[in-house]
Amino acid sequence: MATVVKKEKVKTLITRARIAKRIREMGKQIRKDFPKEPILLLGVLKGAVPFLADLARQIPGEVTFDFIAVSSYGKASHSSGQVKLNKDLDSSIEGKTVLVVEDILDTGLTLQYLLRILQQRKPKHLRIAVLLDKVERRIANVHADYVGFAIPNEFVVGFGLDFAERYRNLPHVGVLQLPCEG
Ligand code: IMP
Repeated sequence: MATVVKKEKVKTLITRARIAKRIREMGKQIRKDFPKEPILLLGVLKGAVPFLADLARQIPGEVTFDFIAVSSYGKASHSSGQVKLNKDLDSSIEGKTVLVVEDILDTGLTLQYLLRILQQRKPKHLRIAVLLDKVERRIANVHADYVGFAIPNEFVVGFGLDFAERYRNLPHVGVLQLPCEG
């Protein structure tokens, strides 16, 4: 009997045009909120890279980048989920206007951890921008200052978001549909 190999599918949730339009709006808003300040965009590797690259080009004036890498261990769906710092920033953030740029705010545990360590380094302002917000999944009390899109509780990929490191290069955001067993 022939074996039928069923493939994963990605169902488009947010098109590249909608993402581009929303990022333009976010860039304008961020500059309006900090009209004269140099802004340090602090990207959380790796998922935030496409969002940071596009957002940076929509914020007029002086903008610089730095990157940090974290990973979660334990069960992320459980409040005991732990976060580990894999790569620290290259420079000090003391006295700077810092915007943490993240792909998605899910349980909030990653950003809660990051905010705690970043706050200790005495930035002048510390704000958060996320492309996506899965509001229903929140465990930690974390609020993003700039949100691209609030989305339902579905596993999404594309525009930086991965499934086993794949799909980060999709130009849109989609819901991953895994093949059914059997
Ligand atoms: P949090 O700590 O639960 O808020 O999770 C944040 C991280 O989990 C994100 O930076 C993503 O790497 C990952 N994540 C959460 N939801 C999704 C998803 O739907 N697709 C892909 N990655 C996700």
